[in-house]
Amino acid sequence: MIVVPGPASKELGLKVAEILGVNRIDVEAKFFPDGETYIRFMGEVKGEDLILIQSTYHPQDTHIMQLILLTETALNLGAKTVTVVVPYMAYSRQDKVFRPFEAVSIQTLINLIGRCGASRLLTIDIHEPKVFDGVKIQAENLSAMPAFIDYFLKENLNGAVSFAPDKKAVKMATQIDETLQGGYGWFVKERDRVSGEIKMTCESEFDIKGKNVIVIDDIISSGKTTAMAVRMLKEMGAKRVFSACVHPLLAGNAYEKIIGNGADAVIGTDTIPNKINVVTVAPVIAEAVKLK
Ligand code: R5P
Repeated sequence: MIVVPGPASKELGLKVAEILGVNRIDVEAKFFPDGETYIRFMGEVKGEDLILIQSTYHPQDTHIMQLILLTETALNLGAKTVTVVVPYMAYSRQDKVFRPFEAVSIQTLINLIGRCGASRLLTIDIHEPKVFDGVKIQAENLSAMPAFIDYFLKENLNGAVSFAPDKKAVKMATQIDETLQGGYGWFVKERDRVSGEIKMTCESEFDIKGKNVIVIDDIISSGKTTAMAVRMLKEMGAKRVFSACVHPLLAGNAYEKIIGNGADAVIGTDTIPNKINVVTVAPVIAEAVKLK
């Protein structure tokens, strides 16, 4: 087995290779003068079970192009199998037809990865795991929650309330609550598909006065969702509010927005490299690729 850290996941790939104790092959990536993507393996991959790790955050389309070029090229060069690990899967929120005649982008992306010859696709806390139902490639959705739980325990957050900023995140909140045991709650969020504006209401009957609260979400993009949740929780009397997310896209001033609305800290994993990579998903990936 060898690990190939793609250009978008160099540090994470390195950590996974170290945990597994296997060799890694680096990648040369550059652009042609007109902006086209160039990619080259910097070593032999023939006969190998290759683990390619490449997240697909901004610039998403470049990272996707690198991913599919690497996948097919590895097989052309004689790799035995290619397992594609996409810690953050771009386009995962476009998982159905919301408005007539639009693309279901995530479906096209998964199909594309399969058609390039990958034998297995692994992601972490994909926005809607149902997108893997019925796909031709063997696809699995891993969870970063055990890694978060370890972190919260180290930070003495046992007994903190786990809070979901929308109904989709309730599963993550309950997973965390199984260990922290502080109870869990959720908001109901409505988003205007055209303007992107959101409205949030609290349906769960839960007294959080004087308690520490963790807001857990899969993605922080503009930060609007989390900032609104943090502000509402503070207004409801929470003592300290921690924002945690698996995929910290942090578009624009998302981080400042969340802190400005009262969060004590913003915590993310390293599926997307940035300043809030407090929790690593490397052990989760290493464990999964060991099991076939
Ligand atoms: C959407 O349902 C996701 O789970 C996140 O809540 C959303 O992507 C966050 O986006 P933003 O940070 O732009 O509010």
